[in-house]
Amino acid sequence: MILPIVKYGHPALRQKGASIEKFDGKLETFVDHMLDTMYEADGVGLAAQQVGKVLQITVLDVSHAEDRPSTMTVDGKEVEIKNYMPLVLINPEVEPLNEMIKGPEGCLSFPEIYADIERPESVEVKAQDHKGTHFTFTCGGLLAKAVQHELDHLKGILFIDRMERKDKDKWRAALEAMRSETQRELKAGK
Ligand code: NI
Repeated sequence: MILPIVKYGHPALRQKGASIEKFDGKLETFVDHMLDTMYEADGVGLAAQQVGKVLQITVLDVSHAEDRPSTMTVDGKEVEIKNYMPLVLINPEVEPLNEMIKGPEGCLSFPEIYADIERPESVEVKAQDHKGTHFTFTCGGLLAKAVQHELDHLKGILFIDRMERKDKDKWRAALEAMRSETQRELKAGK
């Protein structure tokens, strides 16, 4: 099922997600709907907040972004990315592993807005899967950027919060218009 993606101005995007404690069929169905929604929107990641649910759940798939490579290491060995996609991260935590690097980012909740964002080049991730099993991996490249972008969403942090002043100035009018439009729609009960 394709879920509606909320845009900038929706209050769910600013809320910290609740931890998941029950790994049941209902959760599995919701994760499936998030995956359907991410693929339909051609995104590499989607957080629960973006479909209006304030929960610690995100899904990712970077296997189709061949022009922006990723690396992934599990148990100290580099693995084939496509064997681990899609990734379902529940109650995730992230630790930076090395220096900051700047790269382009967009967000499904901010259509047509892009900017270079600085983040650690690689990270270690600890999470649970849709069954509640704990797992750990490290990643670099696009996957590291995407994981950090999505984990920010789970805390109510948006990529505009990490934009440089000059980019924020450039997009200010567009952001303001988007926020007003979303709030108008919410008031109209859409
Ligand atoms: Ni996003």
